[in-house]
Amino acid sequence: MNFLFISNADKRDAWRDAMLERFPGSGFYTYPDLDLDKSIIDYAIVWKPPTGELASYPNLKGILSLGAGVDGLLVDSELPRNVPLVRLVDRCLTEGMSEYVLYWALHHHRRFDVYGMWRQDKIWKNLRQIDTRDRKVGILGLGVLGGDAARKLKTFHFDVAGWSRTKKNIDGVTSYFGADQMAAFLARTEILVCLLPLTNDTRGIVDAKLLAGLPEDAVFINCARGDHVVDADLIRALDGGHIRHAVLDVFHTEPLPADNPFWTHPKVTVTQHMASLTVPTSASEWMAENIKLIEAGKPPLNTVDLNRGY
Ligand code: NAP
Ligand code: GLV
Repeated sequence: MNFLFISNADKRDAWRDAMLERFPGSGFYTYPDLDLDKSIIDYAIVWKPPTGELASYPNLKGILSLGAGVDGLLVDSELPRNVPLVRLVDRCLTEGMSEYVLYWALHHHRRFDVYGMWRQDKIWKNLRQIDTRDRKVGILGLGVLGGDAARKLKTFHFDVAGWSRTKKNIDGVTSYFGADQMAAFLARTEILVCLLPLTNDTRGIVDAKLLAGLPEDAVFINCARGDHVVDADLIRALDGGHIRHAVLDVFHTEPLPADNPFWTHPKVTVTQHMASLTVPTSASEWMAENIKLIEAGKPPLNTVDLNRGY
């Protein structure tokens, strides 16, 4: 079996080791490889391949995304439509994301931001503590990642709701769905987490109207994609005081340019698209499972619906 790897060079060795351990004797090739006979490649393991590249491998049996989000693949207008595109669903990726969400939800629920500032000025004071059961967290996107984060927030007794395209049944989590229920979802949400896929329907969804629908003093955590947010609207909502703080892991341009105002905005915490990173030793298990299904002539798990965009 032969693999093609298209991603950052610093990730190559770990992926080669992980895949060759699962498929001993296979070939592992890294893009760009000018001497490569493209017809030998069976599976492409990819993150943001150049437009048209995947279409030039005539015998591809599967495209395995290195990320849960496949927006970086779907922008390829020549992406082969007859080859299954499998997005990443992985234990480590899911757990890492829930850790990130839980960390920042707890941080803002317990106001460690304020205590941190007071500590710098040697101020000894307390704020009123809010019962976690009275703290309302809302998650945009209640899929693999949003669903896990919702369950874990629940174990900490937060009042959790999610908004998705279709209704969900997660124990103790209120499900809002569809455009009609967005306003009610927002009105009850004090800490809003975005875990939507980036599609034509969700691009720019976090705009002035959405932010105004949140209660005064709400916190926004974006760990999905930068393009979900209209940055100017978010900055206006922060400056105007309606949004208390934004934790942003993802941006329109990455790496975030040094002159981007988010870096220094006092009401913004920037993280470096690290909310959850792909761990090759774990994620390769998912890839192996899917490769075995395809080799057995069966449909792989978590195939992307190319029309829906996720
Ligand atoms: P997923 O399982 O496909 O879940 C997507 C959720 O969004 C589903 O609940 C879906 O609703 C909902 N949704 C999609 N379009 C919608 C719409 N137009 N209106 C309402 N709801 C909509 O995806 P996932 O694995 O949880 O991943 C989510 C995203 O997280 C990825 O696409 C990626 O962008 C991001 N991510 C970021 C990082 C990071 O480090 N920052 C790491 C991993 C992933 P239905 O179920 O009803 O269809
Ligand atoms: C990371 O952003 C992913 O989509 O997995």
